[in-house]
Amino acid sequence: MKNASSHKQPGVRDSFGSSFGVLVALAGSAVGLGNLWRFPYLVGQNGGAAFILIYLVFVCLLGLPILLSEFIIGRRSQASARAAYKTLAPGGSWGFAGILAIVCCTLILSFYSVVGGWGIDYLFKAVRFDFTRESGAPLDTMFSTFSTSTWRPLICHTIFLALTAGIVISGVKNGIEKFSKVMMPVLFLIILGIAIRSLTLPGGGAGVDYLFKPDWSKVTTDTFLAALGQAFFSLSLGSGMVITYGSYVKKDANILSLGAQTALADTVFALIAGCAIMPAVFAFGISPGEGPGLVFITLPHIFGQLPLGGVIAIFFFVALLLAALTSSISVMEVIVAFVIEEFKMKRRTAVIVVTLSIWALGCLCSLSLGAVDGLKLFGKTIFDLFDFVSANVLMLIGGLIVVLFVGWKLGKKDVHDELTNGGKLPIPEWFIDLLLFLLRFVAPAAILIIMIFQLLK
Ligand code: PFF
Repeated sequence: MKNASSHKQPGVRDSFGSSFGVLVALAGSAVGLGNLWRFPYLVGQNGGAAFILIYLVFVCLLGLPILLSEFIIGRRSQASARAAYKTLAPGGSWGFAGILAIVCCTLILSFYSVVGGWGIDYLFKAVRFDFTRESGAPLDTMFSTFSTSTWRPLICHTIFLALTAGIVISGVKNGIEKFSKVMMPVLFLIILGIAIRSLTLPGGGAGVDYLFKPDWSKVTTDTFLAALGQAFFSLSLGSGMVITYGSYVKKDANILSLGAQTALADTVFALIAGCAIMPAVFAFGISPGEGPGLVFITLPHIFGQLPLGGVIAIFFFVALLLAALTSSISVMEVIVAFVIEEFKMKRRTAVIVVTLSIWALGCLCSLSLGAVDGLKLFGKTIFDLFDFVSANVLMLIGGLIVVLFVGWKLGKKDVHDELTNGGKLPIPEWFIDLLLFLLRFVAPAAILIIMIFQLLK
């Protein structure tokens, strides 16, 4: 298979500066709203521990192999999502997978930046102690009034996107890596602190049981689909992100260890986020099945009643915002890298074009939640549609193509070469055979079965 360093444009392609930098950038992409917003509410809607166990199995059996495959494609090609396929399989139609990845990232960033904007608004509210003041806006209607209004969510969406663009414009090493290096440890400490507070609340034990004692009677085919979609979303799989970041990774880095550490960091963050939220939810006798409003409706109630809740609220929304930003920069980078390589644009111009396009789509997402009637397609608001199509359809198709490409088109020699850095790292043969087995048979079968179930519903 052609090694694509020829594709590299000297002086144009950026790269990460250190292995720790790559790891925090990857973990920064993986740890995001998916962990702090999506994971807790999916756990709550799908019955707790059983969902978590299914999720963990998917992360190990599918998530990690797909993560490694994307890494292999990215580092071997040294190119962005679409060019990567075209470089490794010239003349074939695999480049189409790259286009799917760009569409997927476009949809994700559109609704993601709206939710990131909500985080900014809630941080303002927290700083004003709105959740704890008697005279603050009523908590019950606070979220629906805000999210269905016109201007405030749009202004916050604009600020969030501008922050994202500001980091991406500075490049991979000076923007993405620097920002993630400082912010990821801060984020970890905040979430850990809140989890300890929540776990020590009287009555919080019921929340721990809910997180760790499975009730299998609640499991349906929907649980499997939700868990698989969440594993893809949380690890940023099938979206071209790992391919793009992988292309910035140096040739001597150990991608197996980077992949494993990323998956581990993401899972640990999700579990700590669960421990930060569920014990408090149970301690205050609130239902965990609130859905997407869990973080924005249920938690403010809890902050209102918790001793020092006002201060904890500030920390929580700072963490939410940081997590969202370290992920949104990675989604934007996928699209920007594509625009730079395909249209030979300068980074600055590419960032401006991408930001304006996403801004317009994000406005549609935000307005579809209630401010403008009829912004619906296939019975879903544009916001829900973008979320559903990206996490439950495009990322799965993207992941399927990735495993077929690496399992069948590239094959053992390329996988071996990339994982061992051309024979320099001692990775046992059986591990590579097991990985290939998962990529060739288990992963495609699992993804297809779940997608067929979803279609039949
Ligand atoms: N993994 C991110 C999260 O959990 O919030 C979301 C995400 C980031 C998805 C980057 C896709 C992506 F390319």
